[in-house]
Amino acid sequence: MPLAKRQFDAVVVGAGGAGLRAALQLSEAGLRTAVVTKVFPTRSHTVAAQGGVGAALGNMGADRWEWHMYDTVKGSDWLGDQDAIEYLARKAPEVVIELEHFGMPFDRNEDGTIYQRPFGGHMQNMGAGPAVQRSCCAADRTGHAMLHTLYQRNVRAGTQFFVEWMALDLVLGADGRVLGVTALEMETGDVAVLQARATLFATGGAGRIFAATTNAFINTGDGLGMAARAGFPLEDMEFWQFHPTGVAGAGVLITEGVRGEGGYLLNKGGERFMERYAPNAKDLASRDVVSRAMATEIKEGRGCGPDGDYVLLKLDHLGVEKIEKRLPGIREIAKKFANVDPVKDPIPVVPTVHYQMGGIPTNYLGEVVVPGKGGPNTVVPGFYAAGECACASVHGANRLGTNSLTDLLVFGKAAGETMVRFLEENPGHPELPADAADRTLARIARLEGPGGGESVHEVGRELRRTMQAHAGVFRFPDLLAEGVKRVKEIAERAEHLAIADKSRVFNTARVEALELQNLVEVARATMVSAEARKESRGAHDRSDFHERDDANWLKHTLWYREGDRLAYKPVNLKPLTVESIAPKARVY
Ligand code: FUM
Repeated sequence: MPLAKRQFDAVVVGAGGAGLRAALQLSEAGLRTAVVTKVFPTRSHTVAAQGGVGAALGNMGADRWEWHMYDTVKGSDWLGDQDAIEYLARKAPEVVIELEHFGMPFDRNEDGTIYQRPFGGHMQNMGAGPAVQRSCCAADRTGHAMLHTLYQRNVRAGTQFFVEWMALDLVLGADGRVLGVTALEMETGDVAVLQARATLFATGGAGRIFAATTNAFINTGDGLGMAARAGFPLEDMEFWQFHPTGVAGAGVLITEGVRGEGGYLLNKGGERFMERYAPNAKDLASRDVVSRAMATEIKEGRGCGPDGDYVLLKLDHLGVEKIEKRLPGIREIAKKFANVDPVKDPIPVVPTVHYQMGGIPTNYLGEVVVPGKGGPNTVVPGFYAAGECACASVHGANRLGTNSLTDLLVFGKAAGETMVRFLEENPGHPELPADAADRTLARIARLEGPGGGESVHEVGRELRRTMQAHAGVFRFPDLLAEGVKRVKEIAERAEHLAIADKSRVFNTARVEALELQNLVEVARATMVSAEARKESRGAHDRSDFHERDDANWLKHTLWYREGDRLAYKPVNLKPLTVESIAPKARVY
């Protein structure tokens, strides 16, 4: 296979919100920046974000960044690092206004300010309530509008896009510095080395490890797989968010913005059951709380439909005008995927895998950090991560809705700024090792060689089934232990994948095999980390350890691929400038 080498100041892997925001920072600083992306940038998964981006602008009434910070710490069930959370909440208004100035078509109030809607877990007065209107939105297509705005700005800044390229492995120097990636050009089947003085992963999530997910087919955890194979740990991978309202049977997202605008959930008796589970916040409690309530209703026989396996989301009372203005995409989705028109009938919904709280460990500047000579958060030179693939950690054990888009903007920009500084201080390209692409080429050769035999389709299906059954909304000790065993068996089978089609041009079979290898790493990290955490916190709810256990488990998990080793590091409870928010019981 021919091996080209291309040189850049910076390589950004992933063209979603975080990648584009970081790339913009780099290109505008005059740096040669390449963005590697499996799909055309405006088709990245950020396009699917619906309900909005959280920022304490206070356009609809009183709000303060300190309240946003408090809600995020509480939402994280105190597993979030408070320096990173303070940074996110303080910077959010700035990055949203900046985006507005880039031309983002936000919904407007009469006075011209950005319209903001309520969202789960976002409250006034340091959690005391009532609900605050903090989510800045463009109807229910906020991610779509954001992605187009950022892409256009990058085109203007001269960012170079490698579209339909898949990054395959990190390239490391002998001193541990990251020197770029190897990547597959799908059109030709060629592998190239993209050499960079600084490399950012913004590869998004990996919800495709589950059978039922709101995630796009491209969400295969490529950055996480690459990091794990290069020996870096993955942090807090046991925490997966189930979004309360995926369309039953289809998995497509129905934005929490529906409940923000006044919609609510009903069981088969027509009861607004959230009033029992979260008397104050009700349908706008945080997602882990609402998902568990829905799963309990279904489990205890109060689910709707012939099989009692979903609940209903009612919004007809909002009126057709409001639905058309604020939630037009939802009406379209409900008609297409649930065969109901929500201006007349409720939508059948179930908790559906949506977001990974864990990822590649970083600090709030976007630098990848690992245990090393400088302590538990030693910076890896030349390596950065932002967005869902990164764990800064702001979301801890449970992310609040809207904080994902905030995360992309705040930490995408922060990572870009940090990279610019690093590149100024570190001119010149270190020499590439002679074996820069050997591991990648060997991996591809194995897929095409005679030693395989395992079908990508079969192994992938088994993986998704296993994760769905063994790492759900509620977690049980026997299912977790069995899940670890099964995922390890699946990982072993994935070592022997084979593809029949060995052609080069647009060989999607090869791409799917390479993606599956990344999914397997993410699934292993998830199951092993989940089985080991003997408490319930945020989205990790164990039947045998019902309570949060701060004495023993107020710590981050680090999973290493080699031997499925686990290590732990402390949670940073110290914010940058304000008082620490001490752990307490989390009620909504
Ligand atoms: O419900 C939603 O619109 C999703 C938002 C989010 O995940 O932040």
